[in-house]
Amino acid sequence: HYECKIGPSILNSDLSALAEESQRMLDSGADYLHLDVMDGHFVPNMTFGHPVVKCLRQKIKSAFFDMHMMVLNPEKWIEPMADAGGDQYTFHVEATDNPADVIKKIKEAGMKVGIAVKPKTPVEDVFPYVEDVDMVLVMTVEPGFGGQSFMESMMPKVQALRERYKSLDIEVDGGLSPQTINMAAEAGANMIVSGSAVVKSDHPKQVIDTMKSCVKE
Ligand code: DX5
Ligand code: ZN
Repeated sequence: HYECKIGPSILNSDLSALAEESQRMLDSGADYLHLDVMDGHFVPNMTFGHPVVKCLRQKIKSAFFDMHMMVLNPEKWIEPMADAGGDQYTFHVEATDNPADVIKKIKEAGMKVGIAVKPKTPVEDVFPYVEDVDMVLVMTVEPGFGGQSFMESMMPKVQALRERYKSLDIEVDGGLSPQTINMAAEAGANMIVSGSAVVKSDHPKQVIDTMKSCVKE
């Protein structure tokens, strides 16, 4: 196993108390925050954009902000999101005709780069770009909503990436909990997003501790 980092997704928390909820996750042992941006076009749902992220950054100074951009035209929000305080910009390979250009622009804006694949997208689609990115996100649910079931059938994608790239950050997102984390960790994922399992719990520290202990040998 690789050492796993846990990044709570605050999508299913009380979004009117975003800063408090984020701080609650960090106080519970979160290694980073996974922020789900949806535009109502790339996915059939909406959340928040860079103005909200900028306000959150005023209150949460030091946490790593992993921006999961479920948006069409991902190039459009790179500058605003960098200005808002995003640390990593993860765009979907399905959302652009020119991934190489998006990668270049993200780097120019000073952020780390993630590239994501939806469940129906073959992982081979990102192979041409892996050497140029910091992280690949393998979705383990259809993006758009929290609280869905983990798709174990995505694990061969994680394995295929891990076989080729030993030191790549590989993130999984969707349905991760103490019950499913081992499947992802054994396949080679090392960045674990967990939404409802953590934020819906009254004892998030316990859930995060359990998830971390699950992946220890
Ligand atoms: C889904 C989002 C995920 C999701 C995770 O579109 O990208 O980050 O909120 O939530 P859970 O862990 O509840 O599946
Ligand atoms: Zn996400």
